[in-house]
Amino acid sequence: MFEPIRVVQVSDTHLSHRRSHFVDNWYRFSAAMAAVPPRLVINTGDCSLAGCRHPADLVAVADLHRTLPVASRMLPGNHDVGDHPRLSNVGGFRLPITESRLQVYRDAIGPDRWIEDLGGWRLIGVNSLLMGSELRAETEQWRWLQQAIVSAGERLLALFLHKPPFVASPDERELSYWSIDPASRSLLLSLIDDPRMRLVGCGHLHEHFQRRYRHVEIVCCPSLAFVASTALQPQISGGVREVGFLEHIFHEDRVVTRPIMGFELTHHVLDAVVDEVYPEKRLLADSA
Ligand SMILES: [Fe+2]
Ligand SMILES: [Fe+2]
Repeated sequence: MFEPIRVVQVSDTHLSHRRSHFVDNWYRFSAAMAAVPPRLVINTGDCSLAGCRHPADLVAVADLHRTLPVASRMLPGNHDVGDHPRLSNVGGFRLPITESRLQVYRDAIGPDRWIEDLGGWRLIGVNSLLMGSELRAETEQWRWLQQAIVSAGERLLALFLHKPPFVASPDERELSYWSIDPASRSLLLSLIDDPRMRLVGCGHLHEHFQRRYRHVEIVCCPSLAFVASTALQPQISGGVREVGFLEHIFHEDRVVTRPIMGFELTHHVLDAVVDEVYPEKRLLADSA
């Protein structure tokens, strides 16, 4: 008899002790995890407010995850390790991912890719910011991911990463801030197309959507921390803008996903505090 396994995905928590605007929602989330403990919490990136610029934010992330009453795994987002090198230098706001920034992340938080075998499932977490970066770690990760899938044997698969594989269509060609590098997409999609794969869980957009790619559900987790107005962030996916998180119930042969939004969380709107939490972003606006 297969016991369903409950896993909670949270994303874009944007935690910091320097500027602790969004930490209130973390504590409410943590209380919810204590009330009904899942088997595992997965944070799909932008765990920190700006860890790629302020390593102390990564230390805060590690501290705050240690306060969770259940086991957790984290993945890096662009705010944690830096962004795609060709997206990085607009107005000096976006820093590029580098081997040294990645090492800072690993030292503070731990591995940026992992495997969790739970019952008949293999959950795999990867660092989407490496995709298209041409860093040595990118080549290592592709090899590792192929091996993680091959060695899963009979297990069903779920993949977690920060940036979505695509937003509207797998045929998108332009390099965009909102999804992985299209130059890496065909390789990633060929791996996702494995018949054992059931779920891809991502974040980054601060919008919740769910869409099907072949036999796989791609689900974008809402941010726990904040949403932005369409004036600050244009509509990206057509998804829902509400703070929250996701619950995945892994059954013997399928996974059922449910968004938990609103809840007792504060509906922070980035526009109201953007100059305080991201003063560098003004450079971006001024340069546009
Ligand atoms: Fe984010
Ligand atoms: Fe992000």
